[in-house]
Amino acid sequence: MELNNKVALITGSAKRVGKALALALAEQGCRIIVHYGRSEDAARQTLAEINALGVEAWSISADLNNEAEVKTIIPFALKQAGQLHILINNASIFPPEDFLSAKSATWDRNMMINLKAPFLLSQAFAQALPPDQPGKIVNLLDVIAMRPKNHHFSYTISKVGLEGLTKAMAHALAPRNIQVNGIALGAILPNVNDDPALFERLAKRIPARRTGSPEDVVKAMLYLVQDADYVTGEIIRVAGGQHLG
Ligand SMILES: NC(=O)c1ccc[n+]([C@@H]2O[C@H](COP(=O)([O-])OP(=O)(O)OC[C@H]3O[C@@H](n4cnc5c(N)ncnc54)[C@H](OP(=O)(O)O)[C@@H]3O)[C@@H](O)[C@H]2O)c1
Repeated sequence: MELNNKVALITGSAKRVGKALALALAEQGCRIIVHYGRSEDAARQTLAEINALGVEAWSISADLNNEAEVKTIIPFALKQAGQLHILINNASIFPPEDFLSAKSATWDRNMMINLKAPFLLSQAFAQALPPDQPGKIVNLLDVIAMRPKNHHFSYTISKVGLEGLTKAMAHALAPRNIQVNGIALGAILPNVNDDPALFERLAKRIPARRTGSPEDVVKAMLYLVQDADYVTGEIIRVAGGQHLG
């Protein structure tokens, strides 16, 4: 898909990986909808950086744990930009918990923010696209979903679900010329609450012997939205071989 003058919505794009994806699409001439939750100042900064590239952008705050708020996002994007071509489901929570300590409320939060919100957004996105207009959905996954372990328990299961949702939606939307793919990340950025030294120690256990960067994710995303018009239901693992065991 030629990206110039297309419209892309990226959830959780005020900072970190989501911001890198938004800026990369803006550099290709996409007009951008920056969704964020609590990071209002960072969202304003991201918007300013996009505008500095000579590209229009809008921001919307919506709590993805609240279905009514999730349902405001696609109508907002269409009202502001008039059309929509790309949806990137990037926002996520990553709370630590093991199986025995996992709480019902945390389970529900992970499933809502990491899995049901992408479902609702993708469905509204596909319903809003004119039948003859192509579209792209990219879901941000985690290589841990290939071999679930006993940490970040509800998060991991939500990403297993999102991987399944990616393939099921790819099947459902292929006749509509909407491609749905996933990018499964390995160690790209340390979690805000994690010790960065711990993250660097993790690098020694990765086959590539280093952690990745948001730019590595950007390259996979650009391939999927720009070049991969006949690729759907695929997961690209950006993980330096971490998924290989
Ligand atoms: N970082 C990594 O190394 C890594 C590894 C594996 C997979 N991933 C996946 O890659 C994606 C990006 O990773 P990341 O580390 O950049 O993500 P992140 O910083 O943990 O989260 C991205 C954004 O999600 C938004 N968010 C969380 N809960 C929300 C809610 N209830 N309502 C609205 N927004 C909410 C937050 O927005 P606000 O700040 O505005 O509230 C946050 O900035 C995620 O899907 C993650 O699971 C990342």
